[in-house]
Amino acid sequence: MTGNELRKKFLQFFASKDHLVLPSASLIPENDPTLLLIGAGMAPFKPFFTGKMKPPHPRIATCQKCVRTGDIENVGRTARHHTFFEMLGNFSFGDYFKREAITWSWEFITEHLNLPKDKLWITIHTEDDEAFEIWHKEVGVPVDRIVRLEDNFWEIGPGPCGPCSEIHIDLGEERGCGKPDCRVGCSCDRYLEIWNLVFTQYDRDEEGNYTPLAKKNIDTGAGLERIASVLQNKRSNFETDLLFPIIEHTAKVAGVTYGESAKTDVSLKVIADHGRSLTIMIADGVLPSNEGRGYVLRRILRRAVRHGRLLGIDKPFLADIVDVVANIFAEPYPEINDKKAYIKKVVQLEEERFNATLAQGMELLNSHIRVLKESGKTVLDGATGFKLYDTFGFPWELTQEILAEHDMELDRAGFDQAMDEQRQRARAARQENEERVVVPDLSGLVTQELKYDPQAESARVVLVLQDGKVVEAAHDGQEVALILDVTPFYAEGGGQVGDSGTLTAQYGTVAVVTARKLPDGTIYHVGSVTEGTIKPGDMVKIAVDAARRRDASRNHTATHLLHAALKKVLGEHVNQAGSYVGPDRLRFDFSHFAPVTVEQLAEVENMVNEVILRNIAVGRIETTQELAREMGATALFGEKYGERVSVVIIDDFSKELCGGTHVSSTAEIGQFKIVSETGIGSGIRRIEAVTGYAALEYIRSREEILQAAALALKSRPEDLVGRIDGVLARVKDLEKELAALKTKLAKFAVEDLLANKKEINGVALVAGQVDAADMDDLRSTADLVRDRLRSGVVALGAVTGEKVNFVVMATADAVARGVHAGNIIKEMAKVAGGGGGGRPDMAQAGGKQPAKLADALRIAQEVMGRQIK
Ligand code: ALA
Repeated sequence: MTGNELRKKFLQFFASKDHLVLPSASLIPENDPTLLLIGAGMAPFKPFFTGKMKPPHPRIATCQKCVRTGDIENVGRTARHHTFFEMLGNFSFGDYFKREAITWSWEFITEHLNLPKDKLWITIHTEDDEAFEIWHKEVGVPVDRIVRLEDNFWEIGPGPCGPCSEIHIDLGEERGCGKPDCRVGCSCDRYLEIWNLVFTQYDRDEEGNYTPLAKKNIDTGAGLERIASVLQNKRSNFETDLLFPIIEHTAKVAGVTYGESAKTDVSLKVIADHGRSLTIMIADGVLPSNEGRGYVLRRILRRAVRHGRLLGIDKPFLADIVDVVANIFAEPYPEINDKKAYIKKVVQLEEERFNATLAQGMELLNSHIRVLKESGKTVLDGATGFKLYDTFGFPWELTQEILAEHDMELDRAGFDQAMDEQRQRARAARQENEERVVVPDLSGLVTQELKYDPQAESARVVLVLQDGKVVEAAHDGQEVALILDVTPFYAEGGGQVGDSGTLTAQYGTVAVVTARKLPDGTIYHVGSVTEGTIKPGDMVKIAVDAARRRDASRNHTATHLLHAALKKVLGEHVNQAGSYVGPDRLRFDFSHFAPVTVEQLAEVENMVNEVILRNIAVGRIETTQELAREMGATALFGEKYGERVSVVIIDDFSKELCGGTHVSSTAEIGQFKIVSETGIGSGIRRIEAVTGYAALEYIRSREEILQAAALALKSRPEDLVGRIDGVLARVKDLEKELAALKTKLAKFAVEDLLANKKEINGVALVAGQVDAADMDDLRSTADLVRDRLRSGVVALGAVTGEKVNFVVMATADAVARGVHAGNIIKEMAKVAGGGGGGRPDMAQAGGKQPAKLADALRIAQEVMGRQIK
């Protein structure tokens, strides 16, 4: 049975038990700040378990894409560890419980997958007699194959959790570690856990308190790759059809054979696993970065590159792996194929970036390892670890792993400290800070009865919340979140800001700053009470800030036009990577791998304005995902849309999936003006633009700058460029004149110096302080003096900023009398806190104490006196 067949069979089985089958959610969690990446089938459903939100159906089944990196060191070393894997799961939200969960899992694996009953082992929580009874009495599992374990309790961060029961399969003694105490739960490959049934009945908070849930739930998770390995009779997950094509491909590229060496097998497996992770993470909208999930991706990708090197692959190879992965997943996740060109480009850039520094970083690390070995030490200091991270792109975990291969480790505390310092710098530099989204408690609310109606003018307050908790009333000055039975407010989404406005009740007023949407679509209004009191049941009059909404709509439609124009001008690889649509401006981030040229920007700007001037009606149709895809509508990354989607159509120029607000025809945008184009890292560019009144405002402010500049130069804007050219030419003339004057002045200075010439034991000495911009300048002045002097010694000093420079020159006859310029300057420099020396006829030096210049010149005279015979 192929992996694809197994996935389908599982979902069909639970559909036949009245489960709603949903597609896998994105790896990027929605509205869940406690998770970096989805790591379990239940994760997208947390609010359904806690009762905070009502699920679309009490029974759901999925095959969920998951990423876990807690065990990353084990990947490739065991038969069953992965960073990316697929979890089959059936879920009950307050519906069925242990009996059904247990008997259905048994039915599926023994009757539909035909796994041998006598090889199956069951674990339960130590105190779970209820599960024991069901497994033993109803299912018929013999007592000696039901094992009670203390740690059969499942949780992932804060949230729903509970005791669990696992199904293991005995793969035979030959797969085991052979230790006398090897049994179910042993970390070797003999007993393979294939399914975990969690009896979700507690909610754990951030502090670690467990509160019983009002309703009991079921959460199950079965590893697709593991079951596939059993069904396909393979010794490891890596040999199943879900992974093996990647190993075959990589082995070919590296010119090695799988199964010949344990060491190369590990690298082949790591690349197979990481290749799947990085492909799917990027497909779901993650980009490499130094923070959060972007860092997880970067770490996985760079780890894969390093294992490529271990295999002897010395050229970029990961982009080709994306092809293999896309092929494996063509059926369940066609979006990978759709985005393949983009994914490959991201991978290629990141790989190139890492390759550029990998060799240098390895050299540095190896030299440190040598030094540590020689001195018998085993800990690499944190600063070096950080340098490897910061300068050479080594995730610390990679450094740690390489060190571990030499029985060494990294000073994590020191590394963390260096990292912290850098983070603080970065934080200070970053203006926008992301808000944490707290899902308010909506238990007891029938959200299905809430309505969105763009025409609504009044509503009833259904819920008043403060800090995510339901309250009975909120008063003047307090911040609130409100839920209304009907609302015309557009909620933040698709990059567009939420509407703002005012809600007026009989005894209170609320200023709404924005509206937001919960994962189930419920809209809530965030703001503060500006007057009186607001409480559930109040009727409110609604006034949405219409001008603000119109401005945002202009920017939203313009964003679609910009997106389409960029694709036409730059190419189809342009994909949206994020956007902000506000009343003031729009910001559009997109994939493109070079700066957009001035000409291209002008072309894009013209194209958008042309569509605006053609005044095309903006249409919207509601349809299914599939039809939208067939129509060729542009869909965004990581966005989860329901069954029905909305497509915004602007003639044949742009078709895009979108739930935002738009103008009704393009001329309402007024005008579109690009304000800036910049790079924001990893092949992502950012364009900021303005429309409507803001465009007018922008142009006006530019005009004002022009006026002010013209005024300052006593000119008119139309003559300004000529005027500036004139001013610059005049500045050049003046500079020339100044230089000529300086030369003249220097000559006077030379005359002055010569007038003060002394005789030291019959040899002439000219010593003094002069103005000189640098050493060259000082030397040419000294040349001048010496030439005029004809015979004797010149010792000059000049102050430049914090430093003092000296030059000493002696003519040939002075040298013949015993003068040595180098020895003179040595003493001078010493006095002024510096050092130097030189030839008998010419020497120069610098010092750090300009105040000692006069002393130094005196010393010159003294030394010279001593030198002359
Ligand atoms: N949530 C459970 C797990 O991930 C089923 O193992």
